[in-house]
Amino acid sequence: METIYTIEWMKQAARQARAEGRIVGFVPTMGALHEGHLSLVRAAQEQCSPVVVSIFVNPAQFGPTEDLSKYPRPIERDRALLEDLRVDCLFAPATAEIYPTDFRTYVEVGGLGDRYEGRSRPGHFRGVATVVLKLFEIVQPQLAYFGRKDAQQARIVRQMASDLNLDTEIVVCPIVREADGLAMSSRNAYLNAEDRGHATVLYRALDAARNKILGDERDATHLVSRMREVLKSEPGAEPDYVELVDADTFEPVTLLRRECLAVMAVRVGGVRLLDNMLITQREGGGFEVVL
Ligand code: PAJ
Repeated sequence: METIYTIEWMKQAARQARAEGRIVGFVPTMGALHEGHLSLVRAAQEQCSPVVVSIFVNPAQFGPTEDLSKYPRPIERDRALLEDLRVDCLFAPATAEIYPTDFRTYVEVGGLGDRYEGRSRPGHFRGVATVVLKLFEIVQPQLAYFGRKDAQQARIVRQMASDLNLDTEIVVCPIVREADGLAMSSRNAYLNAEDRGHATVLYRALDAARNKILGDERDATHLVSRMREVLKSEPGAEPDYVELVDADTFEPVTLLRRECLAVMAVRVGGVRLLDNMLITQREGGGFEVVL
């Protein structure tokens, strides 16, 4: 695996791959890699060669009180995992490479970027959209892979790609979970043993809503109440938001329709955890639920 640190080299390598008629696949990450990230790499490898993975802990998407300095950075371990998967190229730029001191331009995705995660973390999606656009310009991928774990992020990136006529197709991949249902996340490492136990409540809440949907419940208020009830039963968990939204607009819905997401952010032992499930209406009117 080739490791590239500079924008100039990365651009040149990408340009060369494209000139050879190859399909460049890209998986942007902040490192501390786990199976969730690796599933994106495997999906990319099925459709693309070369596959480029970036590791860049993006200061622009962290709020002033957030965990930028303590964000895990196990770079050697990450590199070994990517080597094992036979990834072609790791792009690992320094902060000053991406944000030189005279950096001034930011990308804002209106509406979608202001709700839920955007409201709880002002400026977060502006930082995400900015770095993703920069990385796309540098890596020039035909396809880029994102996880539904961060459903709102994936939706915002897709909106940006469409609004700005980018040549990169956005592929959204399923959520990878631990055996007990907890969605994998680099932040799970911050949970102590007790909180790790409490953390399964997000999955349990979604699962309870799924059971109601499979029992023909269509009313969003009832489904949200059921999720809140489960979350409340876990004293270690403090919900930030719990909602049923349209998967396209991220507007709350009153009744299940077409494609919806049950989204939640919950604090467990001071760690903010996200989870969601996808609810899709089938041809015959029934609903399919994917956690
Ligand atoms: P990071 O949190 O490292 O996640 C990188 C990618 O992995 C994202 O697309 C995320 O949705 C996906 N991912 C994380 N956990 C997952 C899981 N359990 N199952 C499936 N996919 C999962 O998201 C970011 O970094 C940053 O915001 C980034 C896009 C790199 C921009 O800085």
